[in-house]
Amino acid sequence: MKTYLITGCAGFIGSNFVYYMLNKYKEIQLVNLDKLTYAGNLENLKGVEGDPRHIFVQGDICDKELVSKLFAEYDFDYVINFAAESHVDRSISNPEIFVQTNVMGTVNLLQCAKNTWYNEGTWKTGKKFVQVSTDEVYGSLGDEGYFMETTPLCPHSPYSSSKASADMFVMAFHDTYGMPVNITRCSNNYGPYQFPEKLIPLMINNVKNHKKLPVYGDGMNVRDWLYVEDHCKAIDMVAEGGRLGEVYNVGGHNERPNIFIVKTIIAQLHDRLQDEGISEDLIQYVADRLGHDRRYGIDPTKIKEELGWYPETPFEVGIVKTIDWYLANEEWMSHVTSGNYLKYYEEMYKNK
Ligand code: NAD
Ligand code: TYD
Repeated sequence: MKTYLITGCAGFIGSNFVYYMLNKYKEIQLVNLDKLTYAGNLENLKGVEGDPRHIFVQGDICDKELVSKLFAEYDFDYVINFAAESHVDRSISNPEIFVQTNVMGTVNLLQCAKNTWYNEGTWKTGKKFVQVSTDEVYGSLGDEGYFMETTPLCPHSPYSSSKASADMFVMAFHDTYGMPVNITRCSNNYGPYQFPEKLIPLMINNVKNHKKLPVYGDGMNVRDWLYVEDHCKAIDMVAEGGRLGEVYNVGGHNERPNIFIVKTIIAQLHDRLQDEGISEDLIQYVADRLGHDRRYGIDPTKIKEELGWYPETPFEVGIVKTIDWYLANEEWMSHVTSGNYLKYYEEMYKNK
């Protein structure tokens, strides 16, 4: 039986990963270390309550004592590091916590793994550290071309800079000590359990409530949308079969301008809810995000050729599944949008 230390799995992608893995593997142990920041939510894990294969530990990836204790208690085969501060807008207002969690936290996990897995120049067999990173470390594309694994790192936001820095530490542990590692760099995910600070769930929630839809700049920034379950599959495939020391880009040819996404959500909800209050009049073009990357687009050739992965869910299918989920989970949305979220929203969008 394989044992995993998975971090940040009360968040969006991590909780989807828990469901994916428990569904796929009968015999598995997942130890989920999550600090439960504003983005971590135990409601995301309701479906695995009582499943002995999933063990939840509340704590910080920066906490050396706690992480060392977990390594002593469990014989981890894998560390899969999802834990991060993940929102670009928050990183613009408050960069320090991004360095703390995304850089220092990753280095702490690397150190603790090395302390346990490495002895007198030799690594225990079958171990691997997988860093879940982002295509944002590559910077921004013009109208042409795609991010490849060989594209130089050129991050622009405090968020992407912290992720690029963490990636470099992961590679440094590989290059210096021979640590068995992989890095995955995926494009924008969407699907169930995403916190409504990110474009798609924020717009779904606002449309439903007839609130203005704040589109940054001219709305023509392009993101390469990846359905979260396809991403979870890729991470599992990389953990199982990725060549040691390699980076794998995850995404592929689901590029859409932001305004197209917003109009799609409006049209879908208008038709489904039969609500005449829902129209494109809700769109409000607002001041652009500082340093806003123009376009992201992934070239998935490497992961496709080496591991046989491809994004199975076309955007048109994934967006309908996603809207279905948010319509069916109104209670989840009302819980996460009460309290601190209201303060966040007011503060973030007040000058827009
Ligand atoms: P999220 O913000 O939804 O969840 C992050 C989780 O990490 C939360 O549960 C939070 O409580 C936890 N966490 C934060 N700080 C912690 C700490 N110090 N110790 C322990 N736990 C902590 O993020 P997400 O969207 O699920 O992203 C997961 C990973 O994937 C991140 O590393 C992110 O950079 C990467 N990623 C996300 C996207 C995307 O579109 N969402 C795209 C590319 C890469
Ligand atoms: P986001 O979901 O924050 O992801 P990222 O910045 O990591 O790509 O934003 C996706 C795109 O949507 C990005 O170009 C910024 C834009 N956006 C808006 O136009 N309005 C919003 O309120 C938000 C949150 C994002």
